[in-house]
Amino acid sequence: MVGAVNINSVTKKFAADDGSEITALNGIDLKVRAGEFISLIGPSGCGKSTLLRLIAGLSKPTEGTLFIDESEIKGTSYERGLVFQNAMLFPWLNIYDNIAFGLKARKVYRSSKDRVKSFISMVSLDGFEKSFPHQLSGGMIQRAGLARVLINDPKVLLLDEPLGALDAFTRMNLQDELIRIWKKEKMTMILVTHDVDEAVYLSDRIVVMTPRPAKIEKIIDVNLSYPRARSGSEFLYLRTQILKILNYAGKTEEPGYYI
Ligand SMILES: Nc1ncnc2c1ncn2[C@@H]1O[C@H](COP(=O)(O)OP(=O)(O)OP(=O)(O)O)[C@@H](O)[C@H]1O
Ligand SMILES: [Mg+2]
Repeated sequence: MVGAVNINSVTKKFAADDGSEITALNGIDLKVRAGEFISLIGPSGCGKSTLLRLIAGLSKPTEGTLFIDESEIKGTSYERGLVFQNAMLFPWLNIYDNIAFGLKARKVYRSSKDRVKSFISMVSLDGFEKSFPHQLSGGMIQRAGLARVLINDPKVLLLDEPLGALDAFTRMNLQDELIRIWKKEKMTMILVTHDVDEAVYLSDRIVVMTPRPAKIEKIIDVNLSYPRARSGSEFLYLRTQILKILNYAGKTEEPGYYI
């Protein structure tokens, strides 16, 4: 399998407007196995998007190195697809052309036209090929955004809160869709989420990060088979452990009533 990501002692500093220095990431070491589903969870502003952007090759670390398999990450590549909270489709292109965009940009469209059709079907957008983004719902746009990246056959899919703007039901449907795609395509998944349930439902391992400057607080293994029971006892136990680490577990003593 390909798509292992090695993050070695990575620090990222930014210059703030007042001339001071912001340390977003501080000495991050993480080895993501090829084909693994990892979630990053942590407080707002702790550096999760910064880490994804480094893996995507959109920016460079101040210190440390990042590798995908044996190659150092030096810039962007279709092998590392990035999906944001708002899929950022091109508003002037219809869904077909948005999804075909990467193939056309890489000049492989003519030889792989069938792929466009199959990826449109994979995300259940058959019949919407000629629609423009403003004519679709939020969930459909996110699915088109996923297809647009998946069509390039990435080794690593980087997901920056891709379901964050969706209603709870659409979100749960797309979580199942993500698992189905991951099992079929077998790429490495690195998901940033604020949703503890989403992390437990999807991930092999959950990386809990501290407030900025982000370090890794804890890595939690989720040894549950798929599909997972959202209210199973192990699921709820892991959920509580993560909320405790993040200091959001609330009141934990026994309730004063019984049902
Ligand atoms: N280009 C930049 N220039 C200056 N500071 C930046 C830049 N990008 C990020 N930062 C700072 O780095 C820190 C981490 O930002 P980042 O976007 O990675 O956080 P995050 O964990 O993704 O937060 P959220 O959960 O709110 O999306 C923040 O303090 C942010 O202000
Ligand atoms: Mg972010």
